[in-house]
Amino acid sequence: MKVSDTGYTREELLEMADTYLTEKTRRWEFIEEQGDGMYVYAENGDRYLDFFGGIAVNSTGNCNKKVAEAIATQCKQVIHASNYAYTLPMLLLAKKVCDTIGMEKIVFQNSGTEANEAMIKLARKYGTDNYGPDRYHIVTAKNSFHGRTYGALSATGQPDNACQIGFKPMLPGFTYAEYNNLEDFKSKCTKDTIAIMVEPVQGEGGVYPATKEFLQGLRKFCDENDMLLLFDEVQTGWGRTGDIMAYMEYGVKPDAVSMAKAIGGGMPIGAMCTTEKFASAFTPGAHGSTYAANPVCCAAALAEIEEIMDNNLAANAKEVGAYFMEQLKALPCVKEIRGKGLLVGVEFREPIAFEVKHQAVENRLLITAVRDNIIRLAPPLIANKEQCDEAVKILIKCVSAALVK
Ligand SMILES: Cc1ncc(COP(=O)(O)O)c(C=O)c1O
Repeated sequence: MKVSDTGYTREELLEMADTYLTEKTRRWEFIEEQGDGMYVYAENGDRYLDFFGGIAVNSTGNCNKKVAEAIATQCKQVIHASNYAYTLPMLLLAKKVCDTIGMEKIVFQNSGTEANEAMIKLARKYGTDNYGPDRYHIVTAKNSFHGRTYGALSATGQPDNACQIGFKPMLPGFTYAEYNNLEDFKSKCTKDTIAIMVEPVQGEGGVYPATKEFLQGLRKFCDENDMLLLFDEVQTGWGRTGDIMAYMEYGVKPDAVSMAKAIGGGMPIGAMCTTEKFASAFTPGAHGSTYAANPVCCAAALAEIEEIMDNNLAANAKEVGAYFMEQLKALPCVKEIRGKGLLVGVEFREPIAFEVKHQAVENRLLITAVRDNIIRLAPPLIANKEQCDEAVKILIKCVSAALVK
């Protein structure tokens, strides 16, 4: 659909946002009318270079043709089936995901936060089934982000963030420890702790990669105490950090891993994968969802994963990401550049990130700010070095403009 097909002007449509949408403050002042690879087009034809990826979602590019075809084909066959029915996309996707990442079982969900709900519930069920009703405690990281439903929100270690303010009390059973501090994690565990849950790279929290020693230390500690090690790979999974899953690069296999964002090629799907041992905790009726394993979403995910694998996009993310981080050093006012693959954070010495983001969109570059001094760059994984050069050129201009504001 195009603005010209609606019978409304652009101004009238944007007016509808003011009138009807509850939350619109973070949206850009244009209507996204077309996506194409590394670019997004506004209703007036303006072209934006995408270093945002629909929040690290559009990994194979905006409106990937194979994903779009898979969706269109599946829509003519089965759009929705109940969770009493098997569908082909669900079965093929289950095999593809488990075989590709070396896991045994999958639970389909509809989003990242739900994938984390499934993971938290699995740990609690395993703990209380095997050790009694008190063993449900989970230690997560300070500054983490796991989603906005109550379980995932309670696991989120940001009690002073807008996502938690006004929604207290959180669910009991979560304690937050210092990220990358193994001793702090150990000290926060009690006899009732059943799991440790972390992101291999904290994305929303400011793009902080875990150290190898930290994740390997957590693995050993969990093994010694029959605790589950849970990785939230909603943002890092499926090529983003330069490997299929970030845990592969760390040489640390979790007991369960959540995923969403990139897996669906833009369709709302999440999943949690685990091993036979822990999956058995989900006895019949224990967990489910009307829409989970929706065949259109599964067909999209299957096409997306094939695109990621066939085009070696994880390897591309690794190579281009390393190049990009090097080039970003040319930006003024940089305190630190962090990241893995094409999940990159730039921390400035001044609180200019939101102004840089604003200047970027004015200059036809889409990025996001995750703190007042940190921008996050998460382009589609098809990004090449020339596009990185272009983004850096625009960013130099934007940072300079933000500094004199
Ligand atoms: C690491 C992580 N976990 C969970 C979520 C929540 O995912 P969703 O917005 O799909 O519910 C996000 C979203 O940004 C995320 O980055």
